[in-house]
Amino acid sequence: MKAVVYHGAYDVRVTEVPDAKIEMPTDVLVKVTSTNICGSDLHMYEGRTNMEEGNILGHENMGKVVEVGKAVTQIKVGDIVCMPFNIGCGHCQNCESGLTGYCLTMNPGFAGAAYGFAGMGPYSGGQAEYLRVPHGDFNCLKLPEDALEKENDYVMLSDIFPTGYHATELARVMPGDSVVIYGAGPVGLMAALSASIKGASKIMVVDNNEERLALAEKMGAIPINFSKAPAVEQVLELTKGLGADKGCECVGYQCCDKHGTEHSNTTMNELVMSVKATGCIGVVGVFVPKDPKSKEPLQQEGLMAFDFGNFWMKGQCIATGQANVKTYNRQLSTLISAGKAIPSQIVSHELSLADAPDAYKHFNERDNGWTKIILKPEMQSSNKSATEK
Ligand SMILES: NC(=O)c1ccc[n+]([C@@H]2O[C@H](COP(=O)([O-])OP(=O)(O)OC[C@H]3O[C@@H](n4cnc5c(N)ncnc54)[C@H](O)[C@@H]3O)[C@@H](O)[C@H]2O)c1
Ligand SMILES: [Zn+2]
Ligand SMILES: [Zn+2]
Repeated sequence: MKAVVYHGAYDVRVTEVPDAKIEMPTDVLVKVTSTNICGSDLHMYEGRTNMEEGNILGHENMGKVVEVGKAVTQIKVGDIVCMPFNIGCGHCQNCESGLTGYCLTMNPGFAGAAYGFAGMGPYSGGQAEYLRVPHGDFNCLKLPEDALEKENDYVMLSDIFPTGYHATELARVMPGDSVVIYGAGPVGLMAALSASIKGASKIMVVDNNEERLALAEKMGAIPINFSKAPAVEQVLELTKGLGADKGCECVGYQCCDKHGTEHSNTTMNELVMSVKATGCIGVVGVFVPKDPKSKEPLQQEGLMAFDFGNFWMKGQCIATGQANVKTYNRQLSTLISAGKAIPSQIVSHELSLADAPDAYKHFNERDNGWTKIILKPEMQSSNKSATEK
């Protein structure tokens, strides 16, 4: 089969690899019809993780079941399914509690497994023609009858929609809250959508990418461009000097200043300043324990100069981590089905697998017009103008 393979920093190639196949009786084999490129893939693409060369990327996957293992009882051949990016076993203590992002058995020695992800176990990604789904009954969400009609919405259930929702859960967003979201990438935009679903009264989204901010505005948020004036100042001005009730971090350790220079502590310190005393901050942007390629000595060791004094004085709370996608995906799918949530509104490109190297390059540069890319392995053409939205 064809797959998008990581060959080192800034080098992904589409090559022929051995077909994915059923390996365990509990496996399901999916013919992938949609598989997104994610901001998390970019940390790997830039060589800023310990991703091994030769691995297949892709953790935001949806497709049609073509084969099931002997022990699979619920999922059937022909079902249209979307898989959480986390792989859970379904029976460990964390999976039982709904903390499937921290499964204790799928990646021994580490809490958490995922497809095509550095440090998250030996599972191939789905930017390929086929994907092996371990514990298929547990990890496949069978989609309703409008699955194919709303494919670009449902595929967002694999990661960014539940992850954006998770950011608002970690921040304990309640109806009527004002919320500031750092990052207008796909995850930040989904956090904005989720805050609005939860009935936030004011949603502010911070970025310096005008086009992404325009999308945030279209979704009902107040865009805050930090290259025009410091974000904290703008948020305080919009919140009577008090700060937002809640904050979400949707950027991660490669956050930048207005000159494009990375400082891993920027968003966290700005969140402390732009969220009110006693407010909560939900952090879904990725931070890593080691980052040897960073130019910052502290960050190389996974540390940062965090404004703990102000954080403590303000009595704030922080909650962090991978989204437990399975906790939310079924509920969020009903919003899509009912037409009450349209996460596909951020999709900019539908491309073939062969276009992946080019797409990675543009998405990584945050080029204008490249907000969210869905790869369609069944698409043969690489005629971008025909598929650009
Ligand atoms: N926790 C999870 O389960 C989970 C799931 C998916 C993605 N993620 C992570 O979420 C983060 C965002 O993902 P994405 O797909 O939206 O990525 P992305 O890289 O497309 O978006 C990040 C955005 O942040 C902006 N940005 C950079 N510096 C900033 C700053 N100082 N202030 C405000 N905005 C700034 C960038 O311009 C960009 O638009 C990544 O770290 C990704 O790995 C986490
Ligand atoms: Zn993702
Ligand atoms: Zn488990």
